[in-house]
Amino acid sequence: MTALAHSLQILATTLQQHRYLWEPEPFLLREAPWGAREPAMQDALLSLSQAEVDAMLSDSCHSETWLAHQLPSLFEVLRQWQPMSFTPQFDHQHDAMSIGIGGRKWLQIQAFHQVTQHLPAVLTCTDWCGGKGYLAAYLASHQGCQVDCIDIDQTLCEEGAQRVDQYDLPVAFHRCDALQPVANDVLANERHVALHACGELHRSLWQQTIGVAEQVCISPCCYHLGASDICQLSEAAKQSDLQLNAKELRIPLLETVTGGQQALRNRRTEQIWRLAYDRWRAEATDDPQYRPLRSVSKSLLKQDPRQFFEWAATLHGLVFDAEDQVELYLIQGERDFAMSERLGIIRQGLKRYLEYFVVLDLACYAEECGYRTNIVAFCDKSLTPRNLAVIAQRPFDPSRLPRLLQ
Ligand SMILES: C[S@@+](CC[C@H](N)C(=O)[O-])C[C@H]1O[C@@H](n2cnc3c(N)ncnc32)[C@H](O)[C@@H]1O
Repeated sequence: MTALAHSLQILATTLQQHRYLWEPEPFLLREAPWGAREPAMQDALLSLSQAEVDAMLSDSCHSETWLAHQLPSLFEVLRQWQPMSFTPQFDHQHDAMSIGIGGRKWLQIQAFHQVTQHLPAVLTCTDWCGGKGYLAAYLASHQGCQVDCIDIDQTLCEEGAQRVDQYDLPVAFHRCDALQPVANDVLANERHVALHACGELHRSLWQQTIGVAEQVCISPCCYHLGASDICQLSEAAKQSDLQLNAKELRIPLLETVTGGQQALRNRRTEQIWRLAYDRWRAEATDDPQYRPLRSVSKSLLKQDPRQFFEWAATLHGLVFDAEDQVELYLIQGERDFAMSERLGIIRQGLKRYLEYFVVLDLACYAEECGYRTNIVAFCDKSLTPRNLAVIAQRPFDPSRLPRLLQ
């Protein structure tokens, strides 16, 4: 068993044994379902001040630190494997090629490029799901390779082609669906890259290129998109104790709570009203199962809460008839919200390790196909929370050299 497969096994077993902590959806809970198992942690969670809760929910590192303090032996095991860290050197000077690219995306591209520079140089490259080819153009310009950029969106391909013409770069755009078998001449390129290819797109690209390409380097994102219920690729993950379904693949993507004061206030009001309404609905229908509501307009949140209750009841085919009880339900909603925020800290503290399992699966799949693989945190999380790159390189084999070079 390789070192990465061993790390995956340990992570899978540990996460599965602690599924009771990360599986329950905090918003649907009225109390800690693990309270009897972890009474000390429950007490600590309930005694947190609102300021402490806010600080932890705005930065998952704080949640992790707190959780690790509560459960040190769990974190000792979880932390045995970490991705390699990498510190990119940014060029903040004005660069004509950065025009039209968001500031953070521009820095992500620089960081991603620098990671691929540690691989042997190549002459040909494919940028999967490359949109207008921002990364493709950067690689062509800074690494001197010819790049095929593939994307399903015809307009993005056309705009990208016009853009690279300005710089006279060797980038060709192909409108194609990455979920379908991709043309052999594009697959034949030595290196395949993808920056933030979502869910099934990165799984499809990984399966199509591993075994064919010399190098593959991707930063995956939105793991749940297009996922079937069991979508792990490697034998190591398939045979491990942990299987993540599409819903669970969302957990690594959970946002921290950020935004201006007004946005935070709106979020808080909305969540409290939803929970308060659901208290009434559960009693009125004698059905304790939470019933979701569709998104609510901001203007409704500025009205009297009774109007929200009426709106929500109508959506559920009910008639709201407890106008004089609204204040009581709001107090309960506030209590439920405070509890769900505290329980959210647990998922925030563990979400990164579920993500490690997902990327280790990709790495192990490539290893099982004979590649040398590595996982690198290619930039700081402040630049993008999806900052992991999985890199696979086929060991050198002289029999694959073109005949003329042999
Ligand atoms: C999250 S963006 C990533 C774009 C670019 N790599 C970046 O980092 O800015 C996803 C891209 O995937 C493309 N896409 C979506 N579905 C696709 C498919 N089935 N085949 C190819 N490209 C697809 C979209 O058009 C979009 O440009």
